[in-house]
Order: sequence, then C-alpha cells, then structure tokens
Amino acid sequence: MAMLMAIVCVVLVLCFCSALLRWNEVRYRKKGLPPGTMGWPVFGETTEFLKQGPNFMKTQRARYGSFFKSHILGCPTIVSMDPELNRYILMNEAKGLVPGYPQSMLDILGKCNIAAVHGSTHKYMRGALLSIISPTLIRDQLLPKIDEFMRAHLSNWDNKVINIQEKTKEVAFLSSLKQIAGIESCSLSDSFMTEFFNLVIGTLSLPINLPGTNYHRGFQARKTIVNIVSKLLEERRASQETHHDMLDCLMGRDDESRYKLSDEEIIDLVITIMYSGYETVSTTSMMAVKYLHDHPKALEELRREHLAIRERKKPDDPLDLNDLKSMRFTRAVIFETSRLATIVNGVLRKTTEDMELNGYLIPKGWRIYVYTREINYDPFLYSDPLTFNPWRWMDKSLESKHYFLVFGGGTRQCPGKELGITEISTFLHYFVTRYRWEEVGGDKLMKFPRVQAPNGLHIRVTSY
Ligand code: HEM
Repeated sequence: MAMLMAIVCVVLVLCFCSALLRWNEVRYRKKGLPPGTMGWPVFGETTEFLKQGPNFMKTQRARYGSFFKSHILGCPTIVSMDPELNRYILMNEAKGLVPGYPQSMLDILGKCNIAAVHGSTHKYMRGALLSIISPTLIRDQLLPKIDEFMRAHLSNWDNKVINIQEKTKEVAFLSSLKQIAGIESCSLSDSFMTEFFNLVIGTLSLPINLPGTNYHRGFQARKTIVNIVSKLLEERRASQETHHDMLDCLMGRDDESRYKLSDEEIIDLVITIMYSGYETVSTTSMMAVKYLHDHPKALEELRREHLAIRERKKPDDPLDLNDLKSMRFTRAVIFETSRLATIVNGVLRKTTEDMELNGYLIPKGWRIYVYTREINYDPFLYSDPLTFNPWRWMDKSLESKHYFLVFGGGTRQCPGKELGITEISTFLHYFVTRYRWEEVGGDKLMKFPRVQAPNGLHIRVTSY
C-alpha cells in the first residue's frame, strides 16, 4: 500500500511539473517570438545555463538555430549567436538596444557607471574615461607606473611555488590602484583589495539584500570603497600636491581636462575602471602563462623578443613606448590567448521598445545575449581553431576583422584595450626575462580551452 502511495505521489509530482513547464511555455508563445524554451516560472533555465555553460548554448543552437529565446538570470532573454546580427546589435544602441547587465551589477557598480548610462551621458562618461587613458597618458604617466609596479612586484619569486591564478588577480588589482591613485602595496591597499573582491562577487549574485548574501556583502563593500575614495578626494582638495595619476585627471587638477565630473561620477568611474580591467587582465595574464608553458616554441620566441629589449637597455631602465611597440609577438600572444580562452563570452543588451530583429518580434525590456564566444572557434575564420598559434596574429589585419569581437564592438567597444595590453605585456616582460617555471599539481583539473583549477593553478618559479 505504501509503495502504491509513493508511486501515485511521484506521478502527481511529475504531472504537476510538466503542467508548470507547459504553462510557462504557453505564456511566452506570443506570435512572432523566436523558437526556444523558457524553463521554469521565475527561475527559467538559469540552472542549466550556469551548470552547462557554453554547452547549454551549443545544445540550444543545435535545436533552435542561432537566434533563440530562453529565460536566464531572472529575465526573458534572446540569445543571438549569429555573427552578422551580433554586429548589428552592437552597432545600434541608438535604435533601442541599450546595455542589459543584471540588477546586482548596476546596484553595486553605481548609477553613474558606464554600463548603466546611455545616450549623451554615456558619451560624456566614456569621453572622460578615454581622456585619462589616451595614448599620450599611457606613454607619459601610466606605463611608467605600471613598469615600476611590475618591476617591484615580480621580484623575489625565485624558488617559490606560486598560485598564479591568485597572483595575477593581485597584480591586476594593485597595478590599477597605483595608476588610479598612486597607492602602493600597503595596509590601505590590503583592505581595499578585500573589499574589492567582495564587490566583484556581489555583482555576480542574485539581488537579495539580506545579511549573509553575496549581494549584501558586495553592497557593503561598495559603501566602504565609496568612503575610501571620498576621503582621497577630500585629502587632495585640501593639499596643493600633484600626483600625476588618474584621480588627479578626473578631478580636473591638470588644466587640460575638459570634463567636469561630480564626486559621485568620479567614484563610479574609478570603480568601473577597476572592475572592467580586473577579471579580464588577470585571466588573460594567467592563461598566457599557461599556454606559454604548454607551447615551448612560443615561449622561446616571446622570450627572445623581451631579451632583445633588455639588451638595448641598462638593467634598471624602465620600458618605454618604443619597447611596447616592438613587442609584436607579445601582442600576438595576448590576442591568441584572448581568442582561445575567450575571456568574455558575450555582452548583454536590453530592448527599450518592442522591436523587430531577424524577422522576429522582440518585446520591450527583454534581454539580448550577444553571444560571441563561438566565433573564436570558427574553422572558416581561424584555421585549426583549437590550436594555440600566436603566429596567426603576426598578420596585423586579423586584429581589425569585423568578426574579431574579443574587445566588443560598436559604441561600447572596450576603451581599455590598449591599457590592458600594456599591463599584460609589461607583466610578461618581467616574468619571462626573470623566471622560468613549471606546473606543480593541479594538472588534472585543466580543461581545454579554459583553465578550471578551483584551488588555483600552481607553478614553481626559478630564476632564468
Ligand atoms: C584583456 C583585457 C580586456 C578585455 C578582453 C576587455 C573586453 C571588453 C569587452 C568585450 C567590452 C564590451 C562590453 C559591452 O559591449 O557591453 C568591454 C568594455 C569595457 N571595458 Fe574592457 N576589456 C579589457 C580590459 C579593460 C581595461 C584594462 C579597462 C580599464 C579601463 C577596461 C574598461 C572597459 C570599460 C569601461 C568598458 C565599457 C565601455 C562602454 O560601455 O562604453 N577594459 N571590455
């Protein structure tokens, strides 16, 4: 009897679940929407999306084609994997396709952050950002700071086992702190770093503001960071000292600045710069170390390039713009690493009105996930796409191909591209000219093409 009851219960639960799924599908079966599935009410297909990652996209594309609907991260979403269409979406923000990043990200990064603003405000904030990372400022202010930082930070690694995943995160964070406010490794940078890591985790969480949640911690971290930067602004206003860093430029303390920003805008821009360059630069640096380790020929050529630079200089001479320009193979390694490891799978947009796209009707407020990852592995665009082959980028024209979207495209194309490349190149310069390295443990955790080592990728470093 108990057995029968159990079977009846299971059947009832199954019927209920399938009715719920069906009801949710019917709800979204408006005329004109693209094919696809919407999963469970409220949760949609978020679990499958997060668990399966790129495989979820591939499976859905095999079923429904390159333009399908889903419900992920709390919002009905259209996934576009069509290269031409993706380009159109990125180019046409003015036609009602604005950034569509999750609420937690917008709350924690601030309402003046670049991803939260559009139209003329976006143009202004982006202009202000571009003005402090211009090629001239990279040459005169930022590269010397990055060089000084890397030179000091990459010393005393000899004979040590290093968690390179953690180390590159630390390097990316501390290097940007030095460029922004001239802050060196000290107790302030330590507490700043802890708060910043909480902030990053908070932006990737569900927006539930209850004690103990990542969102709550992220939000508190934002408050602390806002306090730290506000204090810095106050201190600078009270003193005559100039610092030649990003903060001075944003405050308009160099006379040339034509952007007048409020304190709130300055603070959100500082957080934006730290946030946007953190995961991207650290993961690319870490993956470059991994790929170079696995491809000795590429490492040999890269090292040759950097040793040639050192030969032209005295031991303590810093890198200058000419050195950077001569790093052609290093640039190729960075592009190949970004392509193969696909640091950014895609970008999010949102419709501000009902619109027609690709022959379908997309309702107002729906998200569009411009999924660019698969382009990087298209054998028609990159021969032997799963092989790490930096030499393919020695043909400079590949960088400007319209399908190369590692740094995004259109009006939101990454403004920090050259700065990011400068940071990674300088890191690689001091790393390969000073050290050789071998991987210790964790190898079984490697998954191609992206390293997945939950406890970090460990390497043993010895002097070169
Ligand atoms: C390897 C390094 C980097 C990669 C792969 C990368 C990638 C990208 C991508 C794909 C976008 C487009 C986002 C979208 O369309 O919504 C973007 C935007 C952006 N990136 Fe980067 N990025 C890198 C480094 C940096 C650095 C160092 C900074 C620091 C200044 C930075 C600042 C930004 C900002 C502020 C935006 C938003 C631009 C806007 O909305 O107008 N990025 N980045």
